[in-house]
Amino acid sequence: RRVLVLNGPNLGRLGSREPEKYGTASYDELVKRCELLGLELGFSVEVRQTDDEAELVGWLHRAADESTPVVLNPAAFTHYSYALRDACAQLTAPLIEVHISNPAAREEFRHTSVVAAVATGSIAGFGLGSYDLALRALAGLAVA
Ligand code: DQA
Repeated sequence: RRVLVLNGPNLGRLGSREPEKYGTASYDELVKRCELLGLELGFSVEVRQTDDEAELVGWLHRAADESTPVVLNPAAFTHYSYALRDACAQLTAPLIEVHISNPAAREEFRHTSVVAAVATGSIAGFGLGSYDLALRALAGLAVA
């Protein structure tokens, strides 16, 4: 079964971006890691990243129409994008919200997620391992 792993703004810069917060692994390593674990779990995983809210909303519309499960790191959009939240609310298969860091342990503005309430569940704080946990959660929901 197909699974989308969607990443929001600045996540393409993983590896060089604030490594003390997000680690030293690159975005390409994240892509490989998700694809590999996907294979193990019987998923065909497609990983994408965009800095553009409209593009991300478009991908979510398509996922809704195709009933594709989504692992989403909404990055900074997490905290303020009602457009993203409304797109997530239309999904017709499970949605797992992921964060590399633990936003609850960081600045006040990161404590709010406008996406959390429309997600099946949220995973944060385990580095790139958050994505592993999200894919395993999908496998556990038997969406395969
Ligand atoms: C993030 C946390 C967000 O607060 C931040 O804006 C990001 C990354 C994370 O994965 O830890 O860009 O979503």
